[in-house]
Amino acid sequence: MKRTRRLRSSRAMRDLVRENRVYIDDLVYPVFVAEGENIKRPVESMPGVYQWSLDRIHELVNEVTGCGVKAMLVFGIPLHKDETGSQAYDPDGIAQRAVRRIKDLAPDMVVISDVCLCEYTSHGHCGLVEHGRILNDETLPLLAKASVSLANAGADMIAPSDMMDGRIGYIRNALDEAGFANTPIMAYSAKFASSYYSPFRDAADSAPAFGDRKTYQMDPANGREAVRECLIDAGEGADILIIKPGLPYLDVLKEMSRKSLLPLASYNVSGEYSMVKAAARQGWIDEKRIVMENMIAMKRAGADIIITYHALDVARWLAE
Ligand code: PBG
Ligand code: ZN
Repeated sequence: MKRTRRLRSSRAMRDLVRENRVYIDDLVYPVFVAEGENIKRPVESMPGVYQWSLDRIHELVNEVTGCGVKAMLVFGIPLHKDETGSQAYDPDGIAQRAVRRIKDLAPDMVVISDVCLCEYTSHGHCGLVEHGRILNDETLPLLAKASVSLANAGADMIAPSDMMDGRIGYIRNALDEAGFANTPIMAYSAKFASSYYSPFRDAADSAPAFGDRKTYQMDPANGREAVRECLIDAGEGADILIIKPGLPYLDVLKEMSRKSLLPLASYNVSGEYSMVKAAARQGWIDEKRIVMENMIAMKRAGADIIITYHALDVARWLAE
């Protein structure tokens, strides 16, 4: 008889045949840096996540390095927003200053800068707006300016999350011309118009003031189109591809692991985190086990990199 249970008979036997593992090295921890002083402001819908001001960010960076996590994804929250998101590409903007500060505190940290306009625009959209429409090509130079200014501030990697067409090629060119040919681009290639982002929009104060993001982010119904998005970005020079959200889109991740040779990142987004936290607080699930199962699910589907708000907990659990 074919007996699959033979290889499950003991812990050591199971360890021997385990196909996937989660490593601390795989993890990227997202951080929210706010303008102002003495801020450690809890994000209500994301227990354990805070907005930090620059004068306190060392507390977080120490915790991250203490856990052994080696990469952070930086989001800036400016005080001043305008139509064109000018703080996104101000050389002294909050995100640029945050990158400088984190690199000072932890030179070996891989500091990844999220590049988008939505945290910086008064209308909360990821691109320029004209007569209620989100402009594509007119947005590209602003994203490129933001990318170059962040690379200038010391960012080790640029992660454009806007979903405008042609942005990867445009940003690649701009980085190359500015002397940053060696700065990789981690593209949010398959980013779906998802309801799982709503806690993030509280955290980053980036909800659109009108309409939604469906003319630029993807329709959750479309798996083949997600592959197309990824292949286009790869063709434009992306170094790493992100599939986002994570768990509801593992099919896309798996498909991409067959179709691309680039490293793949799964973004376990805010709503996925909040749901786990909420259920755990109720005592309805075992947080540690659920989180670790979620992590291994992303690895099994093909993630090389996991971007998650659970990163510090996961790192601690892995080190136990
Ligand atoms: C900005 C951006 C968003 C996320 C990452 N970058 C929100 C959005 O597109 O509305 C979501 C991250 C999360 O939910 O954890 N474009
Ligand atoms: Zn955006």
